[in-house]
Amino acid sequence: MSAPASDHIDRAALASLRFREDAAFKARTRKSQAWLARAGKSMPNGVPMAWMAGLFRHNSIVATGGAGPHFNDLDGNTYCDFNVCDLAMTMGYGAKPIAEAVSRAVTSGAHFLLPVEDAVFVTEELARRVGLPCWQFTLSASAANTEVMRIARFITRRNKILVFDGQYHGHIDESLVTPSASGTVPVQLGTSARIAQDSVIVPFNDLDAAEAALKANDIALVITEPALTNCLLVEPAPGYLAGLRALSQKYGALLCLDEAHTFQFAYGGLVGTGKLACDFVTLGKGLGTGISFALYGMSRDVADVMEKHLDIDIGPKGLATGGTTYGSNVAIAAARAALEHVLTPQGYDRITALGQRLADGLEAAFKRHGLPWRAFRHGPRSGYCLEPEFPTNAEAATRSIDTDFIDARRVFMANRGFWDAVASAGPQVSFAHQPADIDLYVTQADGFLGEVVR
Ligand SMILES: Cc1ncc(COP(=O)(O)O)c(C=O)c1O
Repeated sequence: MSAPASDHIDRAALASLRFREDAAFKARTRKSQAWLARAGKSMPNGVPMAWMAGLFRHNSIVATGGAGPHFNDLDGNTYCDFNVCDLAMTMGYGAKPIAEAVSRAVTSGAHFLLPVEDAVFVTEELARRVGLPCWQFTLSASAANTEVMRIARFITRRNKILVFDGQYHGHIDESLVTPSASGTVPVQLGTSARIAQDSVIVPFNDLDAAEAALKANDIALVITEPALTNCLLVEPAPGYLAGLRALSQKYGALLCLDEAHTFQFAYGGLVGTGKLACDFVTLGKGLGTGISFALYGMSRDVADVMEKHLDIDIGPKGLATGGTTYGSNVAIAAARAALEHVLTPQGYDRITALGQRLADGLEAAFKRHGLPWRAFRHGPRSGYCLEPEFPTNAEAATRSIDTDFIDARRVFMANRGFWDAVASAGPQVSFAHQPADIDLYVTQADGFLGEVVR
């Protein structure tokens, strides 16, 4: 990501704050650093999964446990979490209904490779909330999107996938791509340059660009988040998603709305609240429970195709979906408990009000410091828009992804007991946060701004 410059940031002040805060961070996380040095001998970068080291420009810390919106590190520091594991932990740490349901499931049999009774509760409830009738489980949103792409390719007998600049749909070769003068190319190392060419990338909120791509009549699937959440926040223009649906139907492509993040912005997700029409919906990140599972919903027409083309182990071979640990008793128990006890209309009302409080607090701080900036706001999600207008596409959003500003803020906040969002996101309210957590975050953010803006 580039590091664009907001005129209002004093770069020298930012650099000296970063230097000071990095030193303080290292001093207060000595045990974590010693552990990581040892761990580097048995795990690349000292972490069990590379992103844990690649997501921040400061060293990692070692987590020891958590409760509600807080977690602790090896040195005994406590952090109020506004990253919430990039939306995989929006229920908070140790959420009772989840802990109880998952413990019961593990005790009675974590998995049977057979359906369990609660699966029908979960899928009926999702059908009611989201509006798509049929559902399948996977282990991750990446895997859900992979299956959606395969099904769409089979149904349309086409190969190409239409994605949008600023997108992220998981660790899939088709999605880890970027536009270049020579067409679509991989954006990360180790993915297939050939598969990258199966993806077409156009700007979000531009129906003409989408139509120009669809006109080639070779797109199997159009896939987008209903609001882009992986380049801060880009909202769809009024009518844009309906237009995309109409265009995908006109040119024979299927449409997937990826709600791996946005399902947690509103009851029923943005598809359910906006009554958005589509062929697939992806849900992910264990619905915020912290348990590894994801789901995708589909229309009855798509489900009919799945049923007709079931993959039989001894043949005939069918649609390439599924995995040995998908749809486990644990995943289904977590999903049911989340839907019944946490992801309730009242729960969403509460985090929406807290999200508003966070955005209002940040905007008041911007004003106090004479900044013409805006605070992103969508349900529980907020963030720093370093411009007077909200972005309408990824190119504009990137101007607010000022990595020097974000990285310095992260360390400053960590030293004051707040675990801030990763660079591409924004602080997110969890179901476990209290109003005082929000107010304290804003107070510290205000203190940070006081040191680095002019
Ligand atoms: C919109 C969206 N889809 C899919 C994914 C992939 O999720 P996972 O990494 O859990 O497979 C992400 C991850 O951030 C995402 O933001």
